Parts: sequence; structure tokens; C-alpha cells
Amino acid sequence: MSTFPLKPDAERVRSNIESLAAFVDESKPGWTRRPFTGWYQQGRDWLREEMAACGLDVSIDAASNLIGRIAGSEPGLPPIMIGSHTDTVTGGGRYDGIIGVIAGIEIARRLRETGTVLRHPLEIVDFTAEEPSEFGISTIGSRGMVNNLSAEMMDRQDLTGLLLKDGIRMAGGRPELIAGEARNKGDVSLYLELHIEQGPVLEQTGNKLGVVTGIVGIHRYRVTVEGKPNHAGTTPMNMRFDALTGASQMVLELESICRETYAEQVVGTIGKLHVEPNGANVIPGRTVFELEVRSLDADILEGIMRRFQESVHRIAGERKLQAHVDCLSKSEAIRVADDVQQTIRAACRETAPSFDLPSGAGHDANQLARIAPVGMIFVPSRDGRSHCPEEWTEYEDVALGVEAVARALLLFDQK
Ligand code: GLV
Ligand code: MN
Ligand code: MN
Ligand code: MN
Repeated sequence: MSTFPLKPDAERVRSNIESLAAFVDESKPGWTRRPFTGWYQQGRDWLREEMAACGLDVSIDAASNLIGRIAGSEPGLPPIMIGSHTDTVTGGGRYDGIIGVIAGIEIARRLRETGTVLRHPLEIVDFTAEEPSEFGISTIGSRGMVNNLSAEMMDRQDLTGLLLKDGIRMAGGRPELIAGEARNKGDVSLYLELHIEQGPVLEQTGNKLGVVTGIVGIHRYRVTVEGKPNHAGTTPMNMRFDALTGASQMVLELESICRETYAEQVVGTIGKLHVEPNGANVIPGRTVFELEVRSLDADILEGIMRRFQESVHRIAGERKLQAHVDCLSKSEAIRVADDVQQTIRAACRETAPSFDLPSGAGHDANQLARIAPVGMIFVPSRDGRSHCPEEWTEYEDVALGVEAVARALLLFDQK
């Protein structure tokens, strides 16, 4: 493995990740930094200063993404973009999203320290709210950047009544300018993202780097089941319209459809459930749950949801409940172009042993793929754990990932 002039400073990368981990909601488990909160804003203020200190020209775009830019030497070339996110799921870890943003900042520092000037402008982006938000939408910032936030989405409310468009404004964006400022095909030469794998494959195969071949599409839905609240002691078992037992049957049905029909190619999860009135001695009158299904194949997703919706209505009918299913969001699966994979593979080969694999997690790259070629590099997750406090990646492995991204950047810059 040759020495590489932009080799990252692993200690600085570690220290940046730990600094950001200080801006968390300590009333929640793990490292929780939900979008549109004070903790998120503090983390971004810190990032903004870090970006400015390494010579990036910092701005916030209409969709509230934080962007640091370095000019290139050749006028007129569209930028290469490196990015990810710094929001977390509730009870999340310190690496998901974060390492992709810190990687960009470390690469910008190394470019400056070595006096390296790229042909293309370089943009480092902290995309707003990549994880599922209280608005039922994920990848909000990257959707906005490519003009994929509908008017209906902009008017959605969270539990406090805040409209998404006002959340974007609070985060420094200008929602009314999103469509006009959006990037179109040709405006970005390439989007690169470093991320933790969030699964067990790299660890189990003994590889340090993953060349991402494709990313799943995610379809999310909300199912509302209405029954009749009533006294839990006096209502006989055959005279109940229990919204929770109906919903429970639906939950198990999704699991069995995903298991039995498409074992390897689809995953389905119901991770959010709301019961009303949620009292020990009241038959649940209303249950709302959110589900998602993921696959690399759009037809499989549509097929699963057709079957599931039929089951929802059948179960509701049998139990004399009302049920309706609303689509919250769909992101398209993507395939990383062969030439992009090849260049990333070459960059990884110079850095550490690597392995090709698809991503079962969604990323901002799914959105950027609407307008630009995208590529992703993974680093190992200990025990395959993620979206939990135990999420861990060795700092030396993060540094290898940063190096691979820097090598890929130099190769793409020459194209
Ligand atoms: C994003 O983290 C996802 O849910 O894949
Ligand atoms: Mn995540
Ligand atoms: Mn992520
Ligand atoms: Mn993700």
C-alpha cells in the first residue's frame, strides 16, 4: 500500500466525532440528536465553525443543508460533493451519518495543508434530517436539494403542530426558494458518501472497506385502525372492537408476507405504534402504526404492499374495524454505475481489503442519484449493530474510509 499525500489525521477524525457526540439530548438513550431541535442546531453551529476554520466557504441552502465549498481550478466544472447527515434516530449512535460529514471536513483540511487544488469545486454537505423525522419523511435536506419535497410534504405537521416548511426555516433554510435553487442534472459531477455499514458483512468477511453496489428503496406507510373504546371488564370477548388486537394481526401479517414470499430480497418493519387511549382498563379504540418495506427491486415493494393492503382490509372486515392505509414516502432503489464502482474499487484497493455489497439502509445518496452519479464507501460496524447506542466503528477503520474517499476524490477529479 503506497503512502498517500492526503492521508487523514486519524486522531483529528476521532476528536471531531467525539466533539459532535457532546451535542445530544441527554434525556434520551444513546446519542440522540433529533433534527429541528436545539441539540441539532448546536451540533451544526459547531460544524459550521469547523468548516470555516478549515477554509471552506460556508452557506446554508434553501432546504437548510449546511454546505462548505472550496473553489476548483477549472472554471465551469460542476462540483464534486461529499456529504451525509448529523441527525440521529432516537437512541442512536455516534457514527451513522456523522462520519460522512467529518470525512469531508478532514479531506478539506488535508487538501489545504498539502496545498492541493482540485480541478472541480468541492462541496462538503451536512444534509438536514436524513433519518425519519416527526413529519413522517426522511432525507429532507437531500430531497430539497433535488427538488423532491412536494407541497403536501412541506405542509405536514409534527406532533407540536410545527409545519415542515417552518422547521426548514428554523434550521436556516428558505422553503419558498427550494424549487428555484434546486440542483438539476449536470449541476453536480459526482456525489460521494462515506458511511458505516450498519450490518455484519464487512466484519464477518474480514474486510475494512465496502464498495456499495446499490441502495435499497424504502416505502413507508401509516395504517390507522379504528375500533370502539370500551370498558375492559364489562365487555365480553365476543362483543369487542379492539383496534390493537386487529393491528397486532396486521403487524404479524407483514412479517409473514416478507418472510415467506421474498425471504432474501425484502425486509419489512413496524417500528412505531400508537395506541389510544392507552389505558390498562380500556379496550383500545384507535391504533396507528407506521411500517416500512425495503428492497433493491421496486416491483417487489409494490407487490408486497398490494398483498399487505389486501390483508389489512380483510382483517379489518373480519373484526368489524375500520382501517386505512396512507403512503408517507417512497424513495427509489438505486444502482451505483459500473464506472463509479470501478473507480471506488481502485481507490479502496490502494487503502485496505474491500468487499462489494449492497446497502440495506437508505442514504442521502438515494436522493442525489436523481441528478448525479453517486458512489458510497462503507466501513465495518462492530457486531453489525446500528441505530442503537452500541453502534461502534474502530477509529482506525473510520480513517481508512476517509482515506479511500480521498483517493476516490482525486481519481474522479481527473475525469
Ligand atoms: C436510515 O438510517 C435508514 O433508515 O436506512
Ligand atoms: Mn440511520
Ligand atoms: Mn445514515
Ligand atoms: Mn440512512
